[in-house]
Amino acid sequence: MGEKKIGVLIGGSGLIGGTIVNYYKTRHAETVDIRAPSSKKLSIREESDIRSYLSEVKPDFVINAAMASLASDGQMAYEVNYLGPLNLARAATALKIPYIHVSSAATLSSGTDLKEDDIIPITPKLSNYAKSKLMAEQTLRLMAEQEGLDYSCVRLAIVYGAHDHKIQGFHRLFFSIADQSMPVLFTQKNTFHSYSNARKLPYFINHMIENRKEFSGITCHFVDRNPVDLATLILTIKSYLQLKSPREIYVPYLMASFGKKVIVFLLRFLRKFGLKADLPPELMFLDNFYKSQALSAARLEASSFVDPMPEETIFTRLPNLVIYYLTRWSHQNLITTYDETLDFKGSVEDDFAHNPLKLLESVHAKSIGPFPEMMQDQ
Ligand SMILES: NC(=O)c1ccc[n+]([C@@H]2O[C@H](COP(=O)([O-])OP(=O)(O)OC[C@H]3O[C@@H](n4cnc5c(N)ncnc54)[C@H](OP(=O)(O)O)[C@@H]3O)[C@@H](O)[C@H]2O)c1
Repeated sequence: MGEKKIGVLIGGSGLIGGTIVNYYKTRHAETVDIRAPSSKKLSIREESDIRSYLSEVKPDFVINAAMASLASDGQMAYEVNYLGPLNLARAATALKIPYIHVSSAATLSSGTDLKEDDIIPITPKLSNYAKSKLMAEQTLRLMAEQEGLDYSCVRLAIVYGAHDHKIQGFHRLFFSIADQSMPVLFTQKNTFHSYSNARKLPYFINHMIENRKEFSGITCHFVDRNPVDLATLILTIKSYLQLKSPREIYVPYLMASFGKKVIVFLLRFLRKFGLKADLPPELMFLDNFYKSQALSAARLEASSFVDPMPEETIFTRLPNLVIYYLTRWSHQNLITTYDETLDFKGSVEDDFAHNPLKLLESVHAKSIGPFPEMMQDQ
């Protein structure tokens, strides 16, 4: 058997990065040694960290799934979302290895059938996130043309998947429904968005790494084929959770936007008294709830990549995600209002609370001996 390839992944503690590490560890353990240094060990804000880590490890490829938190100030967004990728790419060019960059639909306008080239212009008014992501994409394109960088850029829309510990994006919306903090629908009928399946993404990334001729210098949307109507999705989640809200009342944009302005004003006022509070993320993205953003999957579908789970969409994944996140959030005491009659918690928690001796016996009965497969030969 040949030597293992070494891959370096940045952002391994995140939603996307964690899924990629897990994929390599479970599916390519024999052929790929995936290294995912923490941001303490390798901060991509530090050029010296990047240079010394990559010179030492000498990887065969680098994947960047890091991002600064959405509420970051300009400097942080610039350093993590722009300078970091730029320096990783400079190192990759020096080492003559592929660099896989994860980008976002924030680089696109609203609309339908948006192609990879439909990016918005870089202007001062853009959010720190969109601006820094657009700048990174532009510089990477230039580095490929002028410096011989071998890179691929994969653009994600709204991501769904397990292990979103920061509860962002789609999972924040889901959280607001589960927490019953969304009384009515803050969207309008026929607002369609694209979704990206976190579970499938590592297959695509690995495919791009294995097929450099086809994917070098390419930007590709990684989205499910069919965009999803936001109101339908919200109401489907509501029915899974057997909740009464949000009610099927559509709040007009002007009213919602006025409400947001009032909250922004209140927060500014509170800050004068030293009370620091940020705008809730669901309000930060209010505009997006009222505008369609559907990305074309044509380039992905015309490529040699074969979808490993063609039947899977956000709707087929919902039952699993509902159980995963509700269990997690209720353990963390983040959700206080969800209907306790839903039997998601299973019997273990119940026994732990009410019948610990029974639980103890059942654990003992299963086995408390040493793990046989870990025992050394005598
Ligand atoms: N989630 C979505 O809905 C979505 C949608 C479109 C595109 N994307 C793109 O997908 C990528 C990953 O997003 P995500 O949702 O997985 O993000 P996430 O869960 O917030 O994770 C971000 C990761 O970046 C790391 N990081 C932050 N600052 C760093 C630094 N200075 N040096 C090294 N690592 C640093 C974090 O490490 P620490 O925890 O140690 O700070 C964390 O592992 C990003 O490029 C994002 O733009 C995501």
